[in-house]
Amino acid sequence: MKRNGTSSPRSAGSGWQRAALLLAGSILLWNTSAAQARHIPAATQAGEPRDGYIGSKACSNCHAEIYQRFLRTSMGHSMSQVTPDLLESLSSPASYVHERLNRRFDVYSQEGKLYQSESGMGADGNETFTTAHQIDWIVGAGVNGYGAIVRHDSYLFQAPLSFYTRPMQWAPSPGYEFTDLGFNRPITAGCIFCHSGRSNPVAGGNGRFDGTPFSELSIGCENCHGPGAAHLRSMSSTSGSSAKKQFDPAIVNPARLPPYLADNICMACHQTGDARVLKPGKSYRDFRPGTPLDDTLSILIVPPARESPPTADHVEHYYSMTLSKC
Ligand code: HEC
Ligand code: HEC
Ligand code: HEC
Ligand code: HEC
Repeated sequence: MKRNGTSSPRSAGSGWQRAALLLAGSILLWNTSAAQARHIPAATQAGEPRDGYIGSKACSNCHAEIYQRFLRTSMGHSMSQVTPDLLESLSSPASYVHERLNRRFDVYSQEGKLYQSESGMGADGNETFTTAHQIDWIVGAGVNGYGAIVRHDSYLFQAPLSFYTRPMQWAPSPGYEFTDLGFNRPITAGCIFCHSGRSNPVAGGNGRFDGTPFSELSIGCENCHGPGAAHLRSMSSTSGSSAKKQFDPAIVNPARLPPYLADNICMACHQTGDARVLKPGKSYRDFRPGTPLDDTLSILIVPPARESPPTADHVEHYYSMTLSKC
């Protein structure tokens, strides 16, 4: 395989981070037997401590029903790898000719992999160049469509064509209708934050990602409940089933938060605003459910009125809700 995962060395880290590492280490020791008894996947035991994030699979061991239900929502499969099933639901081969730009785009699969290519067309109708890229990830559950991501070294780029599920067609990705951006538009940290469980962009990297670009591909439990390591520990260490019926302050339950903090969780992804501006020194990954979103990210918006509700953007759910009469 071509990807050799150039994993960037992690910085030495603050004392706090080292303490967290030690703590996480002791969690693993403490819980080994309980974890084995519950068949917690090896990956979550052996994986490096990721700021206390353990992944949705680990939650499924004790919250199987919620997990299964969540997987059926669009958030539960907000991103995917290219699988045979997925290939079947995307019509290919397909092509799209952009007359005005003199470009032709093709989508095709080969040996279970999906590719997109772009060709230039000369005045005589002959091809002047062709570039082809393998699609590594698909963004979107397909409610309205699927976007496609290609990986080139440690950079992720958007592919020029997206699949639109209403007409069941490949057509230019949003923003590519009038311009030839080729395979050169980086997938930014802000874009993928809303669509993935936990992504690992390099700070200031404009499309550059860690060797493992996604610790969790689709949106998962911890996007709304915060990191689960401490909860896993407290639930695994209390013995006897009677002790299991209690609430656990170690995990965020949005139902117990002040309403604005609960709303902040959803706003992180469901409110675009006119501009989203990170606080100095912050990255999208720094937001923790249960804390004010504004500590990490400011969403600036020109206030719309009930008489002129926002129409332009596709993700203004939260603001639209506050304007409704209920
Ligand atoms: C070792 C078993 C176990 C694992 C793993 C586990 N939980 Fe729990 N969790 C429980 C038990 C037991 C309760 C308390 C009873 C209940 O609500 O089912 C609970 C309660 C909760 C609550 C309600 C807390 C409250 O105070 O209201 C939330 C939210 C929650 N879990 C989320 C998660 C998430 C998210 C994960 C994965 C990151 C996870 N749990 C992993 C056992 C577990
Ligand atoms: C990490 C970002 C993120 C967070 C946090 C988030 N959402 Fe979502 N949500 C999305 C994305 C992205 C989609 C669209 C998924 C798709 O179609 O690919 C979505 C879809 C939905 C849908 C449509 C689901 C369906 O299957 O019909 C609802 C409803 C929803 N979100 C509600 C919420 C609520 C309520 C919260 C807060 C408790 C929340 N979301 C938090 C990103 C997020
Ligand atoms: C502020 C969060 C946010 C950002 C930033 C964002 N999206 Fe979305 N996106 C959503 C939500 C929420 C939905 C689903 C709800 C809707 O369509 O109104 C969605 C819908 C989609 C869909 C359709 C999914 C489906 O199931 O039909 C695709 C594809 C998509 N976005 C790709 C992208 C790409 C690519 C980027 C970056 C260039 C991006 N989005 C930026 C939140 C976001
Ligand atoms: C989009 C945000 C979101 C995601 C993702 C999410 N939850 Fe929740 N969860 C909530 C909200 C909001 C509540 C509070 C519901 C209420 O008002 O009672 C909740 C409540 C809970 C509770 C409390 C008990 C209950 O049944 O109400 C548990 C346990 C729980 N979630 C586990 C999970 C697990 C496990 C996952 C992953 C499979 C998950 N959640 C994914 C938003 C989310």
